[in-house]
Formats: sequence, C-alpha cells, structure tokens
Amino acid sequence: MERYQKIIQHELYKSAYEKIYKAEENREFCHHDMEHFLAVARLTYIFVLEQNLPMSKDVVYALGFLHDIGRCKEYEDGTPHEEAGMDIAGEILPACGYDKEECAMILQIIGDHRNKDCFLHPCSAIFYQADKISRNCQECNAYHQCYWSEEKKNHKYTY
Ligand SMILES: [Fe+2]
Repeated sequence: MERYQKIIQHELYKSAYEKIYKAEENREFCHHDMEHFLAVARLTYIFVLEQNLPMSKDVVYALGFLHDIGRCKEYEDGTPHEEAGMDIAGEILPACGYDKEECAMILQIIGDHRNKDCFLHPCSAIFYQADKISRNCQECNAYHQCYWSEEKKNHKYTY
C-alpha cells in the first residue's frame, strides 16, 4: 500500500476530517474536503511532472491530504490552520512510514502554504499555486461575498 493511503486511514486524520466536515456543513464558501485535497494533490503532481521537481507522489499526496487538516483546530479555538496542521501532520506522517527528511519537507510546505510573500521551501510556490487554482470561482455561489481579491479569483481554466 502507498504510504499516503495510510494517512487517510489514521485515526487522528479521520477524527480531524470529521470535525472539519461538521464545522463546514453550512459554510457558503469553499469547503476543505477530500474533493479539494485531491484536486490540490493532482495539480501539484502535474506541476512536479511538468517542471521535473524533486517530489515523490507519496509526498505530493501527503501534502494534499494534510495541508488544511489543521482547520479542525482553527474552527475550535482560532489556532491558524497551518500551525495546527504542522502538529497534526507531525504526528501522522512518521506513523505512516515517512522518513525524517520527507516529514521536514512536508511540514515546512504546510507551514508555508498561506505565506506567499516569503516561501521557506523551494517547492512551496507550486503548492501555493495548486491550492489556489484548485477552486472553481466562476461557478461559486459565494463569488461576491468571498474575501479573495478579483486578482486572486480564478477566471479561466488552465489545468
Ligand atoms: Fe487548501
């Protein structure tokens, strides 16, 4: 079994995912669910292949599954989700067989993923872009209420 499959079977992951699902039940803006996580993983993987970047599929999917998982804590007590996500991922990844170097890379990119002005990891930029273009702004019912700037919203489909 691929290591990234173990992430979504991990008990901590399942309970965090469930909390996000419940907290977002009536949310009108973008949800942070498996559809989003997979879209981000797939887009990241396209960039990795196109640009020949040193990231394995196991790392790419771990990032997709885990980058927003800290939202479970953010909805509970306001902890920024990239910070909470690093803690949760730091517990799950070693249990799924990720080595020290992979864990460090994944945690750094999770910590970086809202930080577009100062990326600490060289692969953070493509991950940020994948996260952003994963959203279908054109068909969103909350388009006019969304806090994303007009510039940030996706107006064309490029991938
Ligand atoms: Fe995201």
